[in-house]
Parts: sequence; structure tokens; C-alpha cells
Amino acid sequence: MDQASQIREKIDIVSFISEYLQLKKAGRNFKANCPFHNEDTPSFIISPERQIWHCFGCGKGGDAFTFLMDYENMEFPEALRILAKKTGIVLKESSFQASHYSEKEKIFTLNNLSLKYYHYILLNHPSAKNALDYLINQRKINKGIIETFEIGFSPTQSGLCAYLMQKKGFQKKDLLDAGLAFEARDRIFDFFRGRIMFPLFDHRGNVTGFSGRTLDEKINPPKYINTKETAVYHKGSMFFGLNSAKDEIKKEQSAIIVEGEFDVISLFKEGMKNVVAIKGTALTEDQVALLARFTPKVSLCLDQDSAGFEATKRSLAVLEKRGMVTTIILPKNAKDPDEAIKNNPLEFKKAVKNDVGIYDFLISKFLEENDSNKIEGKKKITDNLLLFFSQISNEVVKEHYLKKLSKEIDVSLESLNKELDKLQKGAVEEKIATQEKQKRTRRELLEEYLIALLIQEENSKEILEIIGLNLKNYKFQASVFEKILEKTKTFLASHERMDGKKLSAALPSELLTAFDACYLFPLPKFSSEEECSLEVERVVKELNSLGVKEKIREETVKLRQDLDPAETEKIEREIKELLSVLPKTIN
Ligand code: GTP
Ligand code: MN
Repeated sequence: MDQASQIREKIDIVSFISEYLQLKKAGRNFKANCPFHNEDTPSFIISPERQIWHCFGCGKGGDAFTFLMDYENMEFPEALRILAKKTGIVLKESSFQASHYSEKEKIFTLNNLSLKYYHYILLNHPSAKNALDYLINQRKINKGIIETFEIGFSPTQSGLCAYLMQKKGFQKKDLLDAGLAFEARDRIFDFFRGRIMFPLFDHRGNVTGFSGRTLDEKINPPKYINTKETAVYHKGSMFFGLNSAKDEIKKEQSAIIVEGEFDVISLFKEGMKNVVAIKGTALTEDQVALLARFTPKVSLCLDQDSAGFEATKRSLAVLEKRGMVTTIILPKNAKDPDEAIKNNPLEFKKAVKNDVGIYDFLISKFLEENDSNKIEGKKKITDNLLLFFSQISNEVVKEHYLKKLSKEIDVSLESLNKELDKLQKGAVEEKIATQEKQKRTRRELLEEYLIALLIQEENSKEILEIIGLNLKNYKFQASVFEKILEKTKTFLASHERMDGKKLSAALPSELLTAFDACYLFPLPKFSSEEECSLEVERVVKELNSLGVKEKIREETVKLRQDLDPAETEKIEREIKELLSVLPKTIN
């Protein structure tokens, strides 16, 4: 047995996944809200018997390894190391060779060396004197903070390339893959030059990339540059500061979201450590999903200009979709939190303490901007606000704000609700339309259900017989289920009874996800084997009739073509025959 299988045997997937998700018992399985897509009713199922998981919402599934890899966005070797440690299994050399040194891990190593290099230069090298002066004197950042955030400086000549290639033995391609260098005229140059360097960590402490701030926007624009997309750096799925803030965020059950690196650092300096920065972009669904692991509440403290307000509104939509509680922090007379703290740290802390519910803020904002005594004003205010209120997932919260608005602009709650209904109907229609597009056909669902009955119920042999007798001329729409049916037949021919674990071990890997889905399919409870058999018969009949209807449709389409009379007659006869079996299969 290889070491991965040893680990699989030793780990309990239920207690392992319960470290990440809130699990509920569901019959012999457990269920949870799926972490890989957005949902309110759990369709993520874990089987303790088979040590697998499957989500019926998004179709993902697998074992403890794939869960960890998907959840933490890591590759197999890293998952192997983590689970080995958890189960107390010491990995042999052969399980983890240099060949397993993945592309991602190589980039992490390179980034980490670069971080150390930039950091050393900032604190020790004469060429970084201006940068160090700027940080300490103009931005009021002391050496302790520089150490904590491991801030660095990239020299103007291509010093990093030389260091990594000559001293550390890396190849040109490695540096290019990591986004640390670029090529021009057959030569290689440092990507970051003459910039203050902020390392960007993922929440597990890996260095995914850097952002570099220029010392002089006129000589060396733009103000900030970030690592380009690499195998490990994806803008829009990370935060600056999350690595050092996540424990505090968990403890406080709240995260402050700011725009920039210096905002995070200024708040940190004043003892507010539950802060992350979106780095001047819009908050994305990926980012909210990541944050939601640590806290149910978020306080937005973006820049106090129109761009900041737009970002706040857009962020709210994403946060509400995830059901996050959102407030806003409103410092006075400052363009951003960094400046506010510099002006008056005590005032700022007060503003943090007095954070305002985001919908209260929006109401007062739109009331300020419009005349609520005039009819145009009322219309403008409601047009704007109802759009936000319609996103609120909690009905109590929604009613609270509708009532508040109704009082403020002297319009009945009934009228507001009517307008809201109109809005929501439109949204629901849209949602149904997109769902319909992705929806699986009834035939596919029935095929899955049938195989689920076959492999989960006690009387598998009898079910197989019913299928064999009644589903002779049926062609499966989803061929995976047909293949699983064949494999199950073979299995039952040589085994006394069904055994999901044994059967799954004998399946080719491309059938496993579909098999797991059938294995975990939530079945109704049958009071007897007869009742179960009747259900199987019903499903088989419906499948037969759906199959026949599909054939009729196909033949009818053929008739539209230009055919000679003999052919037409032949097709018409076939259709007639098909129609004649139909009533029997329906009843
Ligand atoms: P400082 O002057 O360094 O304090 O910046 P700031 O935070 O006041 O800058 P601003 O409000 O303009 O931008 C907020 C954040 O957006 C910055 O901290 C950066 O993370 C990001 N940002 C700013 N300018 C640029 C740019 O030119 N390019 C990119 N990619 N990001 C930028
Ligand atoms: Mn700013």
C-alpha cells in the first residue's frame, strides 16, 4: 500500500472536514453547506463509510486529499505533507521526491528568497537610504513594523536576477515563471526596480507575489505595480494583510476592509489588527468566500471619494450574496484611513467603534442628496435604495429597513413592498432562466436516481432483475450511468451482496465521481422491499417512455428533410411503431 492510501485509511474524513465546515447528521451521512459554491440549503454530503464527499449542487467530490486541495487551493504534495503530519505518518523519501517539487512550490521558494533579499536591502544597503527615510520620516513607519510586514526595497539595477541565478542556481525560466523578471533583447531584467516592496502572502503564509510602490510617481510611474498573474498569484482572490490579521479577525469576529497597503499598516500600528486591504480593486466573490471562513461580519472603510463610494456599493452586493453582516466606518475629514489616523488616531478609533449599518448609511446618504418632500426626490430615493434592499437575504433585516425608509420619506410600507416585488420578480425570472440553462435533463436525473437505488438498497439483485427485464432497448443519455450499471452487474454476478466500497475500488477512475454521486444520492425511505421494487419499476417505465419520445422526436426531424417516398414511408412506419409502444410504457 502506498503512503497516500495509508493516510486515507487512518484519517477520519468526517472529523477532518468538520475542522472546516459546520456538519449536520443526515441519516448515515453528514451534510453541510458547500464551500465551493454559494448555497443556503446543504447539498454537500460526506459518507463516513466510504470516506468520501460529494456536492450535489456543484458536482465536486472526492476524498480527504481532494477536499484539502480544493479548499486550500494547494497541490497534492502539499496536501500529502499536511495529512501525513495529521495522521502521524512519516513520509518516505520515495513519497516525496524532488520530482514532486511542483511548479507552485518552486515559485513560493523563489518568492521567499526574494522577500529576504528585498528586506535585507532596505535595512542594510546604501541604495535603499531614500526608501528607508521615506518610510520612517514621511510615512511614520518604524523598524518594528518594517520587520512585521517584511517590507523591502528593490534596487534600481537588476540585482535580484543576479542573486537568484548566480548565488542560488535558479534558471532564467524559473524567474520568468515567478513574475520576478522580464525578458527584453535576449536579456533578463528585474521586474521590480527602485520600489518599496510589500510581500503578498496567502492566508497560509506563502509568498504569492509582491506589490511595489514607487518613490517618485513622476520619475518612475505608476504609483503601484503588482506581480503579474502566475501559477500562484491571482489578483482578486487574495487580500493584503490577511495572513497576519486572520487570528485577530477570528477573535474579533469582524474584519475591517481598507483599500491600500499603507491603510492596513497604519491601523495595525494603532493596535487595530483585524484589517485587510483589497488593493484598490473591487471586492470579489472569491475574496468574500475566503473572508467568510474567519468572520460573519465586515466593516468597510474605503476611500472617502466617489470612487470609494462606488467600490462600497459594489462590495455590498458581493457581501450580501454571501449573507455577511456589513457596516461602514466613516472617519471625518480624511481621504483614507491612513490619513485619518495620521490626523487623529483617537477620532479614528471612535469612528471604528461607531461603525454604521451599511443600509442605515445608504438611507441617510440618499436622503441627504435628494429632497424627500418632493415627488421626484421620493422616486429617486426609492429607486436607489430598493435596489439594495432587494439583495438583503434576511427578511427581518429587510423589513426593518423598509419600515425605516417608509417613515423617513412618508410613503406606506405597502407601496414600498409593491415596488420591491416588481424588482424581485424580474430578478427571480433571470435566475430561473440561467438555472434552466444549466439544468440537467429529467432523463439524466432519473438515470442517476435509478443507479442510486441499485447500489444503495438492500435488494440490489432484485432491482437488477427489474432493470434487465424492462430496460432492454433503452439507451442511456448519460453514458457514465450505463457503464456503472454494467460494472454493477458484473460485480453482483460474483458477489452475494452489494458492497459500495469493494465495487468502487474496482471502478476506473473516470466513473468514480458519478458513482459517488449515486452512492450519496438522498433516497426516500421505503417501508418494504416491495415498495422499493415498485419505485424502481416506476422509474424504469418513465425512462422507457422518455427514451421512446426522444426517438420519435429524432425520426420526426428526419421527415423534414427532402426524402424519396420509400424512405419517408419507412420512417413513418417506425414512428407508428414507436407510438404504439408508448401508451403501454406510460400508464
Ligand atoms: P499611498 O500614497 O501609497 O498611501 O497610496 P494610497 O493608498 O493613498 O493610494 P490610492 O488611494 O490611490 O490607492 C489605494 C490602493 O490601490 C493602493 O494602496 C494600491 O494597493 C492600489 N493602487 C494605487 N495606485 C495603483 C496603481 O497605479 N496600480 C495598481 N495596480 N494599484 C494601485
Ligand atoms: Mn488611499
